[in-house]
Amino acid sequence: MRRGRAVRGKPFLHASTAPGSSSNAHFSAGIRLRAAAVGNLILVRRVILSTLRGLSVLAAAVLLVAACGGGDPPAGAPAERTIVFKHSKLFGDPTAFAALIREFEAQHPGVRVRAETLPSASDEQHQFYVINLRGGSADFDVLALDVIWVAEFARAGWIADVGDLLAAEEHGEYFDASLESATWEGRTYAVPWFVDAGLLYYRKDLLARYGFEPPRTWEELERAALAIREHEPALHGFVFQGKQYEGLVCNALEYMWSAGGDVLRDGDVVLDSAANRRALEFLGSLVPRGISPELVTTATEEPSRYIFGSGRAVFMRNWPYAWTLFEQADSPVRGKVGVAPLPHFAGHDSAATLGGWNLGLNRRSRYPDEAAAFIRFMTSPEAQRALAREYGLNPARRRLYADPGLLAAQPHLEELRAVLDAARPRPVTPRYAQLSQVLQSEFSAVLTGLDEPAEALAEAQRETERILARP
Ligand code: GLC
Repeated sequence: MRRGRAVRGKPFLHASTAPGSSSNAHFSAGIRLRAAAVGNLILVRRVILSTLRGLSVLAAAVLLVAACGGGDPPAGAPAERTIVFKHSKLFGDPTAFAALIREFEAQHPGVRVRAETLPSASDEQHQFYVINLRGGSADFDVLALDVIWVAEFARAGWIADVGDLLAAEEHGEYFDASLESATWEGRTYAVPWFVDAGLLYYRKDLLARYGFEPPRTWEELERAALAIREHEPALHGFVFQGKQYEGLVCNALEYMWSAGGDVLRDGDVVLDSAANRRALEFLGSLVPRGISPELVTTATEEPSRYIFGSGRAVFMRNWPYAWTLFEQADSPVRGKVGVAPLPHFAGHDSAATLGGWNLGLNRRSRYPDEAAAFIRFMTSPEAQRALAREYGLNPARRRLYADPGLLAAQPHLEELRAVLDAARPRPVTPRYAQLSQVLQSEFSAVLTGLDEPAEALAEAQRETERILARP
């Protein structure tokens, strides 16, 4: 790795020992006890005796309750089992999601579901899972997995084979690439939950006012953004996800693919190419040329969505979830937003990065049957329809894109289906996390002007070859 730009991980998400936390309390209790021992042994003996008396009363009470069968459910009722479902925050009114969970519980008496959210950034969730699964944690049963992790987690033996949950005749219902992302060495380790693909959002009103069509090429986007900014200097031209994290890899790959470039071709690393240089030159020019504000260099999905959603940008690249939020009653851009496939470089085709989340089962789960039933329920057509309607999470099942109810609420779904059908997966390898760290660092250096595209790509090529060559 190059000097001065080490690939650094974020701090681990350990539960910290905050002041006043229980371990601090134990610590100060210890000091107090030692002082007492020196100063007044009699008092200590008295304390111990009274504690022992207290404990025996407590023990008797426990025995009594046990004898009466107080710990067991009433005869005939099944014992209650709680499964924990880890996932990222859903944006929007939480009622619909809670209702889905309650419905599952109603269908499965004795099973409770505790849904727990993780930080939104995929990289941070990845760290959480790696730390916990490596330590053999059984604290959660069902995991929402970013499509890029399944190979890694399956190879490590952290998630169970869930092939039984996906009947062969159901395979055709799913987008090929998202099914592929759930498969490792011919076996299915997760069930596709929802899919993502990069989209271009634009302000219909501004484009119409200044005489522009939705751009089909990056060059057209650049022209429209600069021209509209001449009239409206307070607006940003194009916002996207440029922070050094997984989202930047998704964004940069879209420039590379839509210039005819790639990362791997037939197993060979092809990063250092003229097409990729052209793509990264464009990426590196966005801020200096005033097409994008400098804040994109630290923006993830939500800040870019917020800027565009508060009416402060002409164009935005983001995932489909943003659309539902723009159409809410209190949204400043309601009715003014158009959605289109991402632009491409002249002479090439558009390309969207395939994203999305699959549901996997912790191999250490204490309740694998209940967890499997929950995965089945959450990925059912009904659940996927509800999540699409309420939260704009795009169904992984293709036929829902022709669902009249959904189409009425989200007319762009029809076009989106074509974008999803053609969306390109990031390299499917158990080493993806390492590969991504290299790409994140190099792409960020180009975006922030620290490196020339040629230098960044040569370095990325060397590092990627080294990572993939490891046995
Ligand atoms: C979205 C995508 C996911 C991607 C992430 C990057 O959550 O669904 O696949 O890795 O964004 O920020």
